[in-house]
Amino acid sequence: PAPGWSISADVVVVGSGVAGLTAALRCGAAGLQTVVVTKARLDDGSTRWAQGGIAAALGEGDSPEQHLDDTLVAGAGLCDEEAVRILVTEGPDAVRRLISTGAQFDTDDEGGIQLTREGGHHRRRIAHAGGDATGAEISRALVAAVRARGMRTIENALVLDLLTDADGRTAGVTLHVMGEGQHDGVGAVHAPAVVLATGGMGQVFSATTNPSVSTGDGVALALRAGAEVSDLEFVQFHPTVLFLGPDAEGQQPLVSEAVRGEGAHLVDGDGVRFMTGQHELAELAPRDIVAKGIMRRMQEQGAEHMFLDARHFGADMWEHRFPTILAACRANGIDPVTEPIPVAPAAHYASGGVRTDSHGRTTVPGLYACGEVACTGVHGANRLASNSLLEGLVYAERIAADIAHGRADRSLPARPPRPVPDPEKPAHPLLAPEDRFTIQRIMTEGAGVLRSAASLQEAADHLQRLHSDARDALDENGKTSEPGVDTWETTNLLCVARVLVAAALLREETRGCHWREDHGGRDDTAWRRHIVVRLHPDRT
Ligand code: SIN
Repeated sequence: PAPGWSISADVVVVGSGVAGLTAALRCGAAGLQTVVVTKARLDDGSTRWAQGGIAAALGEGDSPEQHLDDTLVAGAGLCDEEAVRILVTEGPDAVRRLISTGAQFDTDDEGGIQLTREGGHHRRRIAHAGGDATGAEISRALVAAVRARGMRTIENALVLDLLTDADGRTAGVTLHVMGEGQHDGVGAVHAPAVVLATGGMGQVFSATTNPSVSTGDGVALALRAGAEVSDLEFVQFHPTVLFLGPDAEGQQPLVSEAVRGEGAHLVDGDGVRFMTGQHELAELAPRDIVAKGIMRRMQEQGAEHMFLDARHFGADMWEHRFPTILAACRANGIDPVTEPIPVAPAAHYASGGVRTDSHGRTTVPGLYACGEVACTGVHGANRLASNSLLEGLVYAERIAADIAHGRADRSLPARPPRPVPDPEKPAHPLLAPEDRFTIQRIMTEGAGVLRSAASLQEAADHLQRLHSDARDALDENGKTSEPGVDTWETTNLLCVARVLVAAALLREETRGCHWREDHGGRDDTAWRRHIVVRLHPDRT
């Protein structure tokens, strides 16, 4: 059946983390009729899981210039300096506006914002809330503000595809909604501006810190719509994720960088610190360097994990400063007060995404992107810790300003929108839900922390076979998997996995969080540039 319902708005925001809700609140405040659609509940995205905090030059003696320097160093030569400058100069005020919206950060005895350190930062500049529950507090405050303003929201709504008019301008999105009353089933929100804030794609790997909703839906949608996507090979692996066994799958508990920021040590199975001597910042080196240090020592010792030792914090500090991590460790039978925590790297953050300019505009007119789904250029080859919440805030505000500014000039599409595609009869094949585990295994084995031409080629071949099998079935007998959230998510995972692997194969060097075992060093002559992908809309 064709979409069963449709509504119209000035702006549709897809996603409800820090980026999506900030964009929605600012668009609403500018008088734009705004609809927020989100795949699960409003607070179910990655933002809620952020622990360490939000980086901004708020402390005495700190400056945007120093924040800029640290960000550029972490980004390993591929940051867009102008995009970073915007981030670090607009960041402090954006955090203050977040506080005005209702977010409560931890304060010191004088009422100033408490700041901690994380990897790659030469200063204490990470604001945090509830000790190690920063994202949960930001999410709480933004969701409360959206509700208080009576904004229109549709939950349990998986975005399917972008609608465009005959001139190729954005005209809205199609959605698959589950059990939301009048908006049940497949429908459409028509709007001349769409803000993608769908988060990351960590679920493309077997073990990740990302929640189950992080299936690359926004990047896949953008690729299908013909938008440019950049830097997908730069997947950040967080160095210290609680190790729950070699076969652990899905979302894994994070052990924040802030634990190292407060003085925890990384030690091997013999209790020896191994990051000292590898970098002047030791355990607080940028996270690609720490992740590599851990992997190297694991290889040398044939170990499945290393340890993070913070017994010296004592029970009081653990309970007050890191209550979330303490609870997660104890729930898994580890008491960090009395024993070192087993840790290993796991997929954490997509530094690349849908390519945008400094106003969050993608290459499709009317389509914007912010937060993890976007590639604004601020992260380069490796995101600096705690810059992501800040990026979501700053660039969401810029998008809202751009849409509000252009509103008067924006006329309705000159020609009627193209007919809404029928999502029940997709032009491209849908994968079976169980293919998700195959994709995750292929990606973890072939395109994980350590990559080589051979491992990546094997992954590319496997993924191509999955795609061809589904395509052949569609071409030969019109068969495809039953449309539904699982099948769409799995299809999106395959779409982003194929592009990620292709980019990782192409980039024959080691830079930032892209580690090629067969190309040990950074090659600035050949590779100080970006891999930008745009698919032909009919060939995804
Ligand atoms: C953490 O708390 O370690 C995560 C911070 C980040 O990913 O920016």
